[in-house]
Amino acid sequence: MASNPQPAVVAANDRIGFFDLQRQQRRIHDDVRARMDAVLVHGQFILGPEVSELEGKLAAFAGVPHAIAVSSGRDALMIGLMALGIGPGDAVFVPAFTFAATAGAVCSINATPIFVDVDPETRNMDPADLERAIDEVIAAGELKPRVVMPVDLYGLPADYEAIGKIAARHDMTVFSDAAQSFGGRAGNSRVGGMAPISATSFYPTKPLGCYGDGGAILTDSDELAEAVRTLRSHGRQGTGDVAVRNGVTGRLDTLQAAVLLSKLTVFEDELEKRDAVARRYDAALAGKVGIQKQPSGYFSANAIYTITLPNREALKAELDARGIGNAFFYRVALHQHPAFAEAPKRPLPVSERLADTVISLPMHPDLTDEEVERVIAAVLDAVG
Ligand SMILES: Cc1ncc(COP(=O)(O)O)c(C=O)c1O
Repeated sequence: MASNPQPAVVAANDRIGFFDLQRQQRRIHDDVRARMDAVLVHGQFILGPEVSELEGKLAAFAGVPHAIAVSSGRDALMIGLMALGIGPGDAVFVPAFTFAATAGAVCSINATPIFVDVDPETRNMDPADLERAIDEVIAAGELKPRVVMPVDLYGLPADYEAIGKIAARHDMTVFSDAAQSFGGRAGNSRVGGMAPISATSFYPTKPLGCYGDGGAILTDSDELAEAVRTLRSHGRQGTGDVAVRNGVTGRLDTLQAAVLLSKLTVFEDELEKRDAVARRYDAALAGKVGIQKQPSGYFSANAIYTITLPNREALKAELDARGIGNAFFYRVALHQHPAFAEAPKRPLPVSERLADTVISLPMHPDLTDEEVERVIAAVLDAVG
């Protein structure tokens, strides 16, 4: 299979990490330390000045009036759904091929996830299957279609134009799960401003990641922003101690906001570097394996780079032998997770096929040219 077998043991220095946060940290280390020290000095660990500074910068970056920093991407989805007043009896349409948190957030507020298949080329929610899923829910008459929650898979924005039109016809809200895509864009819209409400994640390996858990909700609605601010802090309004709604402990720590302010100083540059790696992979691998199609005018945040091929186990063995990081994102489609077994059943063939054939390659801004070439060579050798 492989024309160029490698020694079974690869020296630590020669390994290529799937992600490499330590390299990135070396670039910004002094700045991160200085910003963290400033937090230790002022001591406002909850909702300190760094949190509002970060919120202002995130909102400006995305071109929306409001960004509200919260405790994680999943909490951002859950709090956003709470702010929209979603609950039992409501249907929320999610792609079947994504990370578990998308449907998990829907179940957390006792609404019902309805799984929608994805497009085989972009791997994002398929608008035609969304139409079918909505019609099925209406015909069954048990749930009220309320929200469409597309995911920007691997960092590539979903087709918000088509999805927005379908949602509008049914008086539904589009809530973007942009956990993987902050920094992405399509045409003149940036992620965070492509739907009436969006949620992102600052999990450490995300394109904009902190050193713990974190997330944000972005919206152009003053009302939703106010509801989210209240809900993330026990349902209290402002600094008062009266709960006007039942909320959660869902704030971003000030220390994490300090880290993110530092990361933001290099974020644009890192997005360009990620994109350069992805386009080199595309150029070398297109036609040999399946690659994610980027519609014209779209810019992915390139959180994860994923190819498809029939015999991914052989490629995995080759990558492992050469010390090259890899992962299956995602190995199981969401409707096949035991946690979501009660969701209404529908055919989801593309999601199931992707789950059987995907394998993700190293992707981070600090990959060297030589490392990218080694990854490409390993894939080409393995696929013959
Ligand atoms: C598509 C998607 N949605 C939601 C989440 C949840 O984000 P977090 O890990 O910050 O809770 C993730 C995180 O990996 C994700 O990839």
